[in-house]
Amino acid sequence: MTAFKHICCCAAFAICFLYSMHDFAQAASNIVRPGAVWSDTQGARIEAHGGGVIRYDGKFFWFGEDRAQGQDPAKRYVSCYDSSDFVHWTSHGDALALADPEDLGPNWVLERPKVYHDTHTRQFVMYFHLDDSHYKVARVGIATSSSVCGPYTFVRGFRPLGEESRDIGQFVDDDGTAYLIFESRPTKGFFIAKLTADDLGVAEKTSFVPVPLEGGALVHLGAWYYVVGSHMTGWRPNPDVYAVSHSIHGPWSSFQNIAPPEPNTYGSQPTMLFKLKGTRETSVIYMGDIWNPRALWDSRYLWMPLDIGNGKLRLPDPKPWKVNAITGATSIQ
Ligand code: DGJ
Repeated sequence: MTAFKHICCCAAFAICFLYSMHDFAQAASNIVRPGAVWSDTQGARIEAHGGGVIRYDGKFFWFGEDRAQGQDPAKRYVSCYDSSDFVHWTSHGDALALADPEDLGPNWVLERPKVYHDTHTRQFVMYFHLDDSHYKVARVGIATSSSVCGPYTFVRGFRPLGEESRDIGQFVDDDGTAYLIFESRPTKGFFIAKLTADDLGVAEKTSFVPVPLEGGALVHLGAWYYVVGSHMTGWRPNPDVYAVSHSIHGPWSSFQNIAPPEPNTYGSQPTMLFKLKGTRETSVIYMGDIWNPRALWDSRYLWMPLDIGNGKLRLPDPKPWKVNAITGATSIQ
């Protein structure tokens, strides 16, 4: 081999090596980057807005509004992804692809899907906000499936406890009891309501939080329940607030900001507080949406581990962070 050929070969090898190391580093890094484009394991943008995460069969499943461009405008879509490490998510396509189920009109709304696994019936039950384009119908819709990523079949729409219901949130307590959080505008507050034993309906009011908030989310940690919500400014962000109680029945403390108010929750609105229970630690992840109303498909995710405990909660400045889904440890970089 001439010296020239030798140099070319070495250079090509070095370039390939560096590229593969770069890919390896991306794949191996367990870093979440709040606000960045988040791609799935196939390199496609994750479309799971207003969503929620559940743990099932040793994995995490993330459901959300699939707002990708180029879909059938008559349908609404809920995506399903799974992950073992909470960072790298594999798409399983759409769990639900639904045409207007109740004659709600062309711009009908399906938002904030959340999935419960019913251990009695072994069904998966998806709840979502179901509405017309003016947000006047104000119902929840439910759909069921025998497998986690669907396909889900629409069952019915209804007003929980007979009340208007817009933004919904999901909460499952440590004893397995499942609750729906729903925002009810006329009553100027939101309800926390226990689901029926089969998760197919709302059984009773557990608590009423008498502050007009939306994007409600709840977590139980130690001796405290923490509830967060945003004020009502449509798609625009505002300073999220939280209250605490020793009981899910309340009474709830007064509300305080979860972060300095000026950055408006760093442009985000809550969709879930996910309790990541590991072998060594329990972290609570704030899952928020950074909405882009002009291009909802390009809305981003702001996920951050919360500084939480002893009845206090704080959303730290968004920075890249690492998670070990086995031990439950998180560290901000
Ligand atoms: C805020 C809600 O939280 C979103 O889910 C969506 O309904 C927008 N309002 C619509 O303006």
